[in-house]
Parts: sequence; structure tokens; C-alpha cells
Amino acid sequence: MESFKEISDRCGCDKSIGHNYHEIYPQFLEPLRNRFFNLLEIGIGAGNSYSLWANYFPFAKIYGLDISVKRIDPRGEIFEGDQSNLEDLKLLISNVGRCKVVIDDGSHVADHQIGTFEYLFEFLLDSGGIYIIEDIETSYWRADAKIYGYETGHLNIIDYFTRYNHDVNSHIHGRHNKLGIKSVTYYENCIIITKRQETENIAKPYYWNMQLP
Ligand SMILES: C[S@@+](CC[C@H](N)C(=O)[O-])C[C@H]1O[C@@H](n2cnc3c(N)ncnc32)[C@H](O)[C@@H]1O
Repeated sequence: MESFKEISDRCGCDKSIGHNYHEIYPQFLEPLRNRFFNLLEIGIGAGNSYSLWANYFPFAKIYGLDISVKRIDPRGEIFEGDQSNLEDLKLLISNVGRCKVVIDDGSHVADHQIGTFEYLFEFLLDSGGIYIIEDIETSYWRADAKIYGYETGHLNIIDYFTRYNHDVNSHIHGRHNKLGIKSVTYYENCIIITKRQETENIAKPYYWNMQLP
């Protein structure tokens, strides 16, 4: 079976050419390869990653959201919309329903990435799902540096995400884990966040000498 990197290279996708996402994604995505599920990618561009997903996941439905691309495809649909616009995200959810995998390769602006995550992780991502935010290197750009016409460097997404670090241990300390976060993985240029299964007990503190975070 072709590997993630082989397919990505063949599709001319920057996930393996330029970024090193092929070093980490298979750890999360390989178990889903022959499963039936919905995948959403924000940011479609010329469609290279759309081809990667369609080949890597032969049974998945592949959805997209892009501010300047709109297309119906035999394997799914690309909706036109702005990830920083809540109404567009609501419309997306009403069209797509739930997704097992979400990849944000859209505007690369930290406050868009955060706002999109806060909404879609809670309302679109399935329990047990995987949410990937790409190109977080823009958080280290100068404040006035621009991408897709937006200024980038006003907020560092890694600093923002530290608020979720203690959520991964909410089964120990019992503090509220509103989004149901199971893990947060920081890797080169990306953050991967997984969601607990609904059946997982997330609030059962059992250490008598526990300190709340
Ligand atoms: C890096 S490209 C995506 C590349 C594609 N995922 C691939 O790997 O082949 C980023 C895309 O995000 C789109 N985009 C930029 N700002 C956006 C926004 N606010 N909402 C949705 N899409 C946006 C752009 O139109 C562009 O097509």
C-alpha cells in the first residue's frame, strides 16, 4: 500500500514537499485508511491536498471550505466560504454534518485558526476525531507580515493553546474540559488535537493528594 508520503509527493502536495507533516500525520491517520468517514479540509487551493486525501482515504467523503474555490466532486464537495465568518461555518456544518478529520490549511492567520478551531472542534468534529492546524509558523512572523491580504503576527497560537494543556488530564483532576480534548500534539508547523470518545469518563478525580491545575 502506498504511504502517505508517496501519495503526497505524487500529488505535488506541500504536506511532504516543504513541510514534514508526513513524519507525524500517519501516526494519527493511518488507522482510518480503510474506514468510511467524512473529512473536511479548510483551504483547497489548486486541489493537490484534495487529491492526496482522496487517494489516501479511498472510502472517505472529502469536503472542503475555501474563500475562492467552489466545486462539486464525485468524492465530496467544496463550499465557498470564509473560515473567519461564523455564519459560513454554521452553513458548512448544516451541509456536511459531522467529520472525523478536520485539517485547517486555510488563511494561516492565528485568530482565524483559533476561532475556527473553537467552533468546529465543538460542533463539527466527531467524538474520537482528529483536528489538525497547519502552517502555525505564521505565528512567528512580524505583526505586519501579510498572507492572503491578512496581517498575521498579532497572536501566537502556541501561547493560546497552552490553556488546553491541562485538559488532557481532566480525567485525573476533574476540572471542566469543555471541548472534550484528549490530546494536544505540537509538531513542526502544526498542532494536532484529538477529541475524546463520548463514552470516555472525563471527570473522575481519584488522587487524595491532588492539586487542581
Ligand atoms: C495553502 S492554500 C491550500 C492548499 C491546499 N490545502 C493544498 O495543500 O494543496 C490556502 C487556501 O486557503 C484559502 N483561504 C485563504 N483565506 C481563507 C479564509 N479566510 N477562509 C477560507 N479559505 C481561505 C485560499 O483561497 C487558498 O486556496
